[in-house]
Amino acid sequence: MNDDFVTAARVTDVAPGTGKAVIVGEREIALFNVAGVFYALENHCPHQGGPLADGWLDGAVVTCPWHAWTFKLSDGKMTLGDFARVDTFEVRVEGNDVRISRTPQSTAQ
Ligand code: FES
Repeated sequence: MNDDFVTAARVTDVAPGTGKAVIVGEREIALFNVAGVFYALENHCPHQGGPLADGWLDGAVVTCPWHAWTFKLSDGKMTLGDFARVDTFEVRVEGNDVRISRTPQSTAQ
């Protein structure tokens, strides 16, 4: 599965404390930089499809810009309850390339 990762951005494209929507295969992914650590989530909020990449970051939590649902970047789960989540994707930084897996991470916890 090594070829599962695609280069989606440059490290310098996403400043610390910000997010950016990128395309990975057929998906739109919200890529976030939290103090130099990158996280990748499905960009479409499960509520009504709001763009999470345009949301507000508070540490490793993003707030949807449309109706303020909040998701943990680490596992895509809502902070207020376990009734909705977004897919997360493994990220690898190689030099100045940010590479994202096309395959959602396992939801098994
Ligand atoms: S679309 Fe995200 S909270 Fe409504």
